[in-house]
Amino acid sequence: MQEEAKTYAKNISGVKIIMNSLHLGKSKFNLTEIVHDLKTPITSIMGFAELLKKGNQSEESKQEFYSIIFSESQRLLSLVNDILDISEKNFLAVPQKCNINIQINKYAKVLKPLADSKNIEIIIQSENNDIYVSIPENKMSRILTNIIENAIKYNRESGKVYIDLLERNGKVFIKIKDTGIGIAENELGKIFEKHYRSETSKTLKIEGSGLGLSIAKDITEEYGGTIEVSSKIGESTEFIISFPVANITK
Ligand SMILES: Nc1ncnc2c1ncn2[C@@H]1O[C@H](COP(=O)(O)OP(=O)(O)OP(=O)(O)O)[C@@H](O)[C@H]1O
Ligand SMILES: [Mg+2]
Repeated sequence: MQEEAKTYAKNISGVKIIMNSLHLGKSKFNLTEIVHDLKTPITSIMGFAELLKKGNQSEESKQEFYSIIFSESQRLLSLVNDILDISEKNFLAVPQKCNINIQINKYAKVLKPLADSKNIEIIIQSENNDIYVSIPENKMSRILTNIIENAIKYNRESGKVYIDLLERNGKVFIKIKDTGIGIAENELGKIFEKHYRSETSKTLKIEGSGLGLSIAKDITEEYGGTIEVSSKIGESTEFIISFPVANITK
């Protein structure tokens, strides 16, 4: 599956070149960033289709995989709409709120095949299942997938990813902690810059374009949130994403 994912990443770079040559890059959306985020839904659709092809799952798992394939295809469609610069507000009434707990569980499931490939366990803890934030689901998905994907990619074999969801003083805190390679103190301030990659990840030849975190930070801040990082080199890294809790409970 890893090899296939790499092939797809290359194909997507091809799409980027074609789109740039069509001068669609002048849209208000950043094309490179959207193309970057197309990789995750495509890779998960492929991964779950591959699992279904093997055909040895229970009926319950099959239904779950079908619904992930369906919702990831919807996510692809929404990214394609961004590329076509169709204003979401005019085109589709995208709900401006999302249930954080549901989103976390959804993307932990979507990224499970990637975690399984390194025997990594994702452990989710939530004090409250009913926390809403004023951000469309498709934007929240881009934040969560980029951060959780990193927590898996920069983790050790058989490591753990802990995701904790807390609510304090009108704010929601999403803590995503891994047991991976860590980030040196002098690099912590740079990792949100476009194309920055840590010395350790380059030495270890872990592939990446250095864009995921800048996308996650831009979207978080656009919706009034903050994102912070702390790390112990060689041990662990923790990202804390915070948003004001939305006033809507249902
Ligand atoms: N959980 C983490 N543990 C250790 N290092 C990390 C972690 N998350 C990010 N980094 C470091 O920050 C850099 C920037 O991350 P970012 O997600 O922006 O890019 P990337 O993972 O290299 O590529 P991609 O654009 O495919 O996400 C990474 O290259 C890595 O060096
Ligand atoms: Mg990344």
